[in-house]
Amino acid sequence: MSNEGVDKGRRRFLTAATTVVGAVGVGYVAVPFVLSWNPSARARAAGAPVEADVSKLEPGQMLTVEWRGKPVWIVRRTEQNLADLPSLDGVLTDPASDMQQQPEYAKNPARSIKPEYSVLVGICTHLGCSPTYRPDIGAADLGGDDWKGGFFCPCHGSKFDLAGRVYSGVPAPSNLEVPPYMYLSDSQILIGSDKGAA
Ligand code: FES
Repeated sequence: MSNEGVDKGRRRFLTAATTVVGAVGVGYVAVPFVLSWNPSARARAAGAPVEADVSKLEPGQMLTVEWRGKPVWIVRRTEQNLADLPSLDGVLTDPASDMQQQPEYAKNPARSIKPEYSVLVGICTHLGCSPTYRPDIGAADLGGDDWKGGFFCPCHGSKFDLAGRVYSGVPAPSNLEVPPYMYLSDSQILIGSDKGAA
């Protein structure tokens, strides 16, 4: 009986000791992380706009920049991609972008300022995974003829087209978000600011 009591007491002590070591460990790891967080990175995380240079982006290619700690994708769509967008309306949840997932200037068939460049927050509207870029038209694993290129979320199978519009019958309830953005020149895009218009 008395031995059992001793064991329990010892176990309690060991548990407490482990907890303290764990807490110290966390603090130790956190310090270098905080020190490496320089002011410009902190400003970016707080929402400062970021510039993207699209001059080297070929048709069909995607560029990723980080804004507010989130990936923002810029896809240079091909003529074929743009021609394919209207053909998908029947298999999408919100083809006309009626939900408030974009600024007013991106509430159009291409969901963008210039049709050639799609600008999207690369976070799935289901539970926040980052989908994979799948530009391969007709991919058998993504629906064959109904797949005109887009994004596939590996977490629970949501699919989005190249304008970030969500397919029907998948877990994600809404289109990918379009961030505020504007063109500084033909090849420079500012993500995170539109000075109220674009
Ligand atoms: S997080 Fe993308 S489908 Fe669930």
